[in-house]
Amino acid sequence: MAEAQEQQRGGYAENVSAAELAEVGIRFEVDGEIATITLDRPDKRNAQTFATWSALARIGESLPERVRVVVVKGEGPSFSAGIDLRMFTPEGVPGQGSFASAAKADDTSFDQLVDQAQQAFLWLRRPEIVSIAAVQGHAIGAGFQLALACDLRVVADDVKFCMKEPALGLVPDLTGTKPLVELVGPAKAIDICLTARVVHADEALRIGLAERVVARDDLAAAVAEKAAELLSTNRDAAVATKRLLQGARGRTLEEQCAAERAEQATRVRALFG
Ligand code: ACO
Repeated sequence: MAEAQEQQRGGYAENVSAAELAEVGIRFEVDGEIATITLDRPDKRNAQTFATWSALARIGESLPERVRVVVVKGEGPSFSAGIDLRMFTPEGVPGQGSFASAAKADDTSFDQLVDQAQQAFLWLRRPEIVSIAAVQGHAIGAGFQLALACDLRVVADDVKFCMKEPALGLVPDLTGTKPLVELVGPAKAIDICLTARVVHADEALRIGLAERVVARDDLAAAVAEKAAELLSTNRDAAVATKRLLQGARGRTLEEQCAAERAEQATRVRALFG
């Protein structure tokens, strides 16, 4: 059944091959209910390009139905040093343009360009999955925003979060501003972004950016442990509960109570009906 549904949705293999992913510096593995995405350009500190974002979006589109937890990690010393700095050069990234070429786009085209890039990040919030960023070393700009796109962040004690965009004359536009404000509040978010300062592990834990800090060598084990904990609850209840929690901020108490009743009716009928 799940296989048939996967095929209906295009199927992972048809949509994006391991060779294509390798070309843009990404690895993707599914082990049972856990999918792992690895940014795999350690020699370039996992810098991200439009090709990275297009591949991430396609992984999201064709994620096997059985997957409940998605781990996002980076190979090497840094989680990700952000957008590929070649974007700032006149030549840009071969085949992908540059900020100079994007500057020439009309409003609609520019909007579409960034909207496409944002698709790489948005699917990580789906209620059907829980996403965990495993973050070590630098998570700068787009790297910080990729970590913010995930539901949870388990970090190594050498983590260095930095929202570098304002220092470069840009705004963070890869879906990171909303989760940042929701996690740390507007004052701290303004402080972090408008100074482009580094947030280290102890502060990240204290202000709610990280759920857990572990020694660098223990990061993989800590993430595996968290994934196992997440898989220990009922799948449908987990999906419904994430939906409730995600919607809570946008609802009044009365609306949230009504949403809880509606979700529970479905659960109780499924379990006892
Ligand atoms: N884009 C392209 N290449 C990069 C990037 C990047 N963002 N970051 C690092 N690299 C490359 C370096 O050019 C270098 O390549 P080379 O070996 O061919 O010369 C290699 O990765 C290693 O980089 P180092 O600087 O030597 O590594 P180090 O560990 O000392 O420093 C650090 C890491 C702090 C991340 C540093 O590389 C850096 O500051 N990078 C740029 C960060 C940045 O400004 N990103 C943009 C943020 S804005 C946004 O994302 C929208």
